[in-house]
Amino acid sequence: MTPRRVLVTGGAGFIGSHVADELVARGDGVVVLDDLSTGDPANVHAPAELRIVDISDARALGRAVEGERFDAVVHCAAKTKVVQSFEQTARYREVIVDGTRNVLDAALATGAHDVVNISTGGAIYGETPQCASEDGELHPPSPYGQLKAEAEPLVQRAGLRGVTLRLANVYGPRQRQDLEGGVIAIFLGAWRRGDALTVYGDGKAERDYLYVGDVAEAVCAALDGSFTGVYNIGTGVATSVNALIDMMSAVLGAPHGVHHAPERPGEIQRSCVDPSKAAREGLWRPRTTLRAGLERTAKLA
Ligand SMILES: NC(=O)c1ccc[n+]([C@@H]2O[C@H](COP(=O)([O-])OP(=O)(O)OC[C@H]3O[C@@H](n4cnc5c(N)ncnc54)[C@H](O)[C@@H]3O)[C@@H](O)[C@H]2O)c1
Repeated sequence: MTPRRVLVTGGAGFIGSHVADELVARGDGVVVLDDLSTGDPANVHAPAELRIVDISDARALGRAVEGERFDAVVHCAAKTKVVQSFEQTARYREVIVDGTRNVLDAALATGAHDVVNISTGGAIYGETPQCASEDGELHPPSPYGQLKAEAEPLVQRAGLRGVTLRLANVYGPRQRQDLEGGVIAIFLGAWRRGDALTVYGDGKAERDYLYVGDVAEAVCAALDGSFTGVYNIGTGVATSVNALIDMMSAVLGAPHGVHHAPERPGEIQRSCVDPSKAAREGLWRPRTTLRAGLERTAKLA
């Protein structure tokens, strides 16, 4: 592919920084826009360039890209905490819905043709006894999921080639270990500190765990092709917390105890996305098994 100039919002964060690294590795020029609210400048690696800006501030965003040309935009910036989204819904709306609108305006103003929007499968479909396909009903159980769902059609209506990727539960190096981070990052931190793991409920809740390197590949494939519309990006495999602990134990040795806490209200029992549309249409298919991804994460995180 001819090298491109790509704007990556949220590129100082977990997923965005892996996307930026992959684009740089391919020879693309990358400018990262991030307000560093949860991102870290150390995640942005030269020659990618970091510009600190709040995407919910349309004027500041306009100034940050004034007079520039980009070929494509990858939109990863968002507030992402489910519990916090109940307490700070107005701010979540400003960043997720208004911010997406502002990013699309910036894409158009800078001549970009293609936009890849990072959305969520895990927080948008609700309970999925069968792994959800893209045309299934949406039952987002939190303001976070509802607002991500509200932002998706903006991308499809923007007059650009828009691809929305609904990601499963992503894990990998650089994921934060705070309370609402991914369970794998939290468990890994506990393992390293010698703390007991906390399991909410009976440990039978299932998630579709997706390695972050596979996400970066999906984004690049979405940029390269002529795809439009919504695609699930996940493994199609649901793994329980108990099975995850067994698998992590095989990689890291036995945990330093397992503590059970009451199930958290509103917790989904089974969340899994069906990635067969992406595979059928030649966009992407999962590559990294959970075992291989855990080994890589344990080594690099
Ligand atoms: N981690 C997952 O399992 C997962 C699953 C599905 C979808 N997603 C989506 O992936 C994207 C990235 O999430 P992540 O897990 O890497 O989280 P993250 O918090 O590491 O990344 C989000 C980035 O956006 C930045 N940001 C937040 N608000 C901003 C604003 N107003 N202006 C500019 N930058 C802002 C943050 O500083 C951070 O660098 C989000 O859109 C999220 O909804 C994540």
